[in-house]
Amino acid sequence: MSPELPDPPRSPAAESESASTSALPRRTFIAASAATGAAVVAGPALLGAPAASAAGGHSSQVSLTVNGNRRTITIDNRTSLLDLLREHFGLTGTKKGCDAGACGACTVLVDGRRVNGCLTLAVRLDGAEVTTIEGLSPGEDGRLHPLQQAFIDQDAFQCGYCTPGQIMSGIACAREGHTGSAAEIREWMSGNICRCGCYVKIVRAVQQAAKGR
Ligand code: FES
Ligand code: FES
Repeated sequence: MSPELPDPPRSPAAESESASTSALPRRTFIAASAATGAAVVAGPALLGAPAASAAGGHSSQVSLTVNGNRRTITIDNRTSLLDLLREHFGLTGTKKGCDAGACGACTVLVDGRRVNGCLTLAVRLDGAEVTTIEGLSPGEDGRLHPLQQAFIDQDAFQCGYCTPGQIMSGIACAREGHTGSAAEIREWMSGNICRCGCYVKIVRAVQQAAKGR
């Protein structure tokens, strides 16, 4: 049988902690701590306030036009435009890259202006017109949008993950008149990251589409 080890020396902090709790019997202290913890976890419900729920006061109805179709939906107020498009409307052409406004994969047009869908709250878009990559799909004549065709002609993608965002951004870039030179296009498309590094060909594609306008 090994000899009993003496208690280790106690630090001043431990002594002080012990002093502050020693007035409570151990079981009483644990029960009080558990009750406090449960109140913190349960939050407002235990305190008599209404519980947060997506179906309660934290949701709103929004009506917007997406690719020419009027849509009305009730959504959680925290829903981003990107999630509204992908998760609620099934428009998965718009991609989620960083979900933090840093890559441009989620670029769509709102009332003709390019925005990052991941940074845009959907409830703010009541009455807005949204255009996604699906909205550029061939019409009855079967022709692609000129910038879609230019991306094919210039071989401006590899994996293609960034491509919908690049195309939507490129359309707006041309409309804004920022296609005067390769350097200008690079500057005004700088919010759209291509991990495959297709920048030279992306710039050529935007130039080709801008010339054909
Ligand atoms: Fe929106 Fe990256 S997913 S900027
Ligand atoms: Fe792969 Fe741009 S083509 S990320």
